[in-house]
Amino acid sequence: MAEKLALDGGPRTVPEGMVRTWPPHDERDRQAIMDVFDSDIFHGNSAPNAVAMQEKWAEYCGCKYALVTNSGTSALHMAVASAGVLPGDEVITSAFSFWASAAAILHHCAIPVFVDIDPVHYTIAPELIEEKITERTAAIMPVHIHGMPADLDPIFEIAERHDLMVVHDACQAHGATYGGQKIGGIPFTTGFSTNRSKNLSSGEGGIFTTDDDDAYEHARRMREFGEVVPPSGQQREYNAFGLGWNYRPHEFVNAFMLTQFSRLDENNARRIEFAHFLTESFEDIPGVAGPAEPPWGQPVYYVYVVEFRPEEVGLDCSAGEMKAACVKALAAEGISMGQWQTRPIPGQDVFLQKQGFGRGVPWALNPDVEYEYRGEDYPLTLEFIAAHSYLRGVYPPNDMELMRLYVDGFRKVIDNIDRVMELAAEA
Ligand SMILES: Cc1ncc(COP(=O)(O)O)c(C=O)c1O
Repeated sequence: MAEKLALDGGPRTVPEGMVRTWPPHDERDRQAIMDVFDSDIFHGNSAPNAVAMQEKWAEYCGCKYALVTNSGTSALHMAVASAGVLPGDEVITSAFSFWASAAAILHHCAIPVFVDIDPVHYTIAPELIEEKITERTAAIMPVHIHGMPADLDPIFEIAERHDLMVVHDACQAHGATYGGQKIGGIPFTTGFSTNRSKNLSSGEGGIFTTDDDDAYEHARRMREFGEVVPPSGQQREYNAFGLGWNYRPHEFVNAFMLTQFSRLDENNARRIEFAHFLTESFEDIPGVAGPAEPPWGQPVYYVYVVEFRPEEVGLDCSAGEMKAACVKALAAEGISMGQWQTRPIPGQDVFLQKQGFGRGVPWALNPDVEYEYRGEDYPLTLEFIAAHSYLRGVYPPNDMELMRLYVDGFRKVIDNIDRVMELAAEA
């Protein structure tokens, strides 16, 4: 007989207080921040932690340049602009992402054009890109979502054929590889986020990378008001060469990023180990499945997604209905799952209403083109969102014991699936 569900008064699988938060931090992080106080250097492009982080990140990614920034969105904006995208240009990106991917395009008065996803790896579907290319297209922005590297070879083939730039949104993909190469070290420009939840976390922050001298110069100026600001101690010219922003990070953030960076590979290895264990275990549990690893690269599991498959357990309902019922039962077992994104980006009001800068900008920059966005035009993204949920806590300092309890909890819920659905119907 199946064990009694916690929802039905049975024992919960995961004890209260067992799941720890991300990122793990210790005395090393605290000391690095105290050292910033002692140094009396709190910001600036020549600040020691900024410089050290940039050198280490460029070396890690295998590229020439890295620039630390105050957010992933600013790093991505720098990546778009320094790739030569101009106001009114179109940039092709994935319909499934956090909308900051598209916002970084809008920030440069360029126009996002969306493409649906490969439903297995949830990254942009290369075979759907070409039909979206027009004479206004300047770049393709693959999003390496959830630490999953997008399939880049066909994307580069298309980019070369149409003379387009490739700008990577790697905000969720620190350490992920494509064909053995680190994301961030692949042309042309890349933006990373280091906000609280990311594999490389510094609370807030970002990193821009490129191999290209001109793109680096462009991004460097853009980060600091459009000026070329010399190292501390040298006279600043106070002459802006073009429009720039203040995208500099604080030294506290850089110091924290550096200490966290020293554990990135170790932490990623744990994420990969946990993900492999869960995915293999779910193969023996009908009705649920983990992500498939692509043949082209190594994902780093920024988050762990679980698919619900009602047909495998004989349910005559949608994946969304099964998911909602199971998520409730799992929560009672002490297994927390959440929804990340509720619609394709083009289904958000900012695109439905074309609410950009006002006065129709940036879309009005192309008065002869009728831009129309509809969430329904991205059925694969819609299906993915409906059938998947996010399992929290699949990262260190959590451990294998927790992962084993997660599997026990899923097994229990699926063993009781008829009762789970009955309870959901009653509710
Ligand atoms: C895919 C993606 N792109 C862009 C961003 C923006 O990064 P940030 O929040 O650091 O500005 C994020 C993170 O929030 C993200 O997940």
